[in-house]
Amino acid sequence: FNVPALRNEPVRNYAPGSAERADLKMAIKKARSVVTEIPQYIGGEEIYSQNRQKISPPHDHSHVLGYFHEGDKTHVQRAIEVALDAAKSWSVMKWEQRAAIFLKAADLIAGPFRAEINAATMLGQSKNAYQAEIDSACELIDFLRMNVNFMHEIYGQQPVSSDGVWNRMEYRPLEGFIFAVTPFNFTAIAGNLPAAPAMMGNVVIWKPAFTQVYAAHVIMNVFRQAGLPAGVINMILADGPIAGDVIFKHPDFAGIHFTGSTRVFQTIWKRIGENIGSYKTFPRIVGETGGKDFVLAHQSADPKALATGLVRGAFEYQGQKCSAASRAYIPSNLWEQVKEYMLEDLAEIRMGGVEDFTNFVNAVIDEKAFDKITAYIDAAGKSADAQIIAGGASDKSTGYFVQPTIIEAFKTDYITLCEEIFGPVLTVYVYDADKFEEIIPVIDKTSPYALTGAVFAQDRYAIQYATEKLVNAAGNFYINDKPTGAVVGQQPFGGARASGTNDKAGSVLNLLRWVSPRVIKETL
Ligand code: SER
Repeated sequence: FNVPALRNEPVRNYAPGSAERADLKMAIKKARSVVTEIPQYIGGEEIYSQNRQKISPPHDHSHVLGYFHEGDKTHVQRAIEVALDAAKSWSVMKWEQRAAIFLKAADLIAGPFRAEINAATMLGQSKNAYQAEIDSACELIDFLRMNVNFMHEIYGQQPVSSDGVWNRMEYRPLEGFIFAVTPFNFTAIAGNLPAAPAMMGNVVIWKPAFTQVYAAHVIMNVFRQAGLPAGVINMILADGPIAGDVIFKHPDFAGIHFTGSTRVFQTIWKRIGENIGSYKTFPRIVGETGGKDFVLAHQSADPKALATGLVRGAFEYQGQKCSAASRAYIPSNLWEQVKEYMLEDLAEIRMGGVEDFTNFVNAVIDEKAFDKITAYIDAAGKSADAQIIAGGASDKSTGYFVQPTIIEAFKTDYITLCEEIFGPVLTVYVYDADKFEEIIPVIDKTSPYALTGAVFAQDRYAIQYATEKLVNAAGNFYINDKPTGAVVGQQPFGGARASGTNDKAGSVLNLLRWVSPRVIKETL
């Protein structure tokens, strides 16, 4: 039989006057008019606690969207118990039955929940309408639907048999539970990280980032409405170290599906290592972490395309993408022209709340992020090794607003060319246009990450040379395009080195991490 065709969900553009824009505006208004209480979801229960945490839009401190009910160790313990109980029937359910639930979830997001989940992402994570649409609608729908195709592919892979022998492979789920830890920056990732292992028959404890709970709770409602049995995915709202304390000591801990910072992933890996003797199985460790993504231009590059790619790659969603263009190496012959084009683009960009659809840049996620980003900018303003050539201003009085900022660095090891900032800051290094070959090892060595990267060139030699020499510098490499915006099924996403285990979310490779095959040989 066939599964639904591989096809990306069409992106809506919310043009002025369109019905979809009116729907989305209405959903935003509705969300702003109520105070939402967000519980933990453990088994079939909604757990409300005494420990309520306020949720405000990052761009509007004066408004309260709701409260989430924080959990503690006893909730995590309980979630593991109900998950293990749910595993008894979920792990043996026919895969087509599991797939149908997630196809239904995709359809719910594509239709009745689309405006609600986009509005929640916009308000809770300060993401503009277009960025929300490509994330919380299209990417999440694509993950769910395409994973069904990949499930089909995996379950169909069978060993050869011979005369009198029938060999077969059973793709069992892992024995135990999976811990999904998800970030604030993509609602699609928040949905996919618990969904992918669950699709392969696993049960999941899901801990969304506290800064993304507002949209995470819509995802949970979608899963429930799609018919996901109680206990298969449990959303806990405990602080990371508190949850980790229970989870990483539990003998049934079978794997982690993580997106977040390199430092937290390293801590998790150590905790798993410390407890390795106490687990029933060797846990699967799958993580996507940080990036310091580069754009390398050759002297043959088209300066207009390069400038557009840099502005979009660096400043969409305030640079809070692990894939964001955050360092650019531009040849001296192009720099003045590229700078002019970028400054022209920046002059057009408006910054403000998500409710006004003409704002391209909104707020950064929270005060910690604001302080970290502005510290890098302030230091650059005072350094003899760098100068700020655009932006630089910030204001947290009404929301966490940081202007799109371009820093020109005069040394290849200047701090903002090496460290991940996770904000709207692009650092440019201008190199001697004749020294293209010499700048490549610098790019490769000045950062420990290897997530995304791009080369802009018309010259075929330059394209080939950069592609070959930067072979280990990025898991997703772009030629004449910005290094962000990977589309599920088209550019499976992930990186190596300090950027993660490169298990390519939304692909067969990722789903294979969530199975433990059994081979059966039967003599006939
Ligand atoms: N997949 C996103 C992108 O490519 C990042 O997570 O921008």
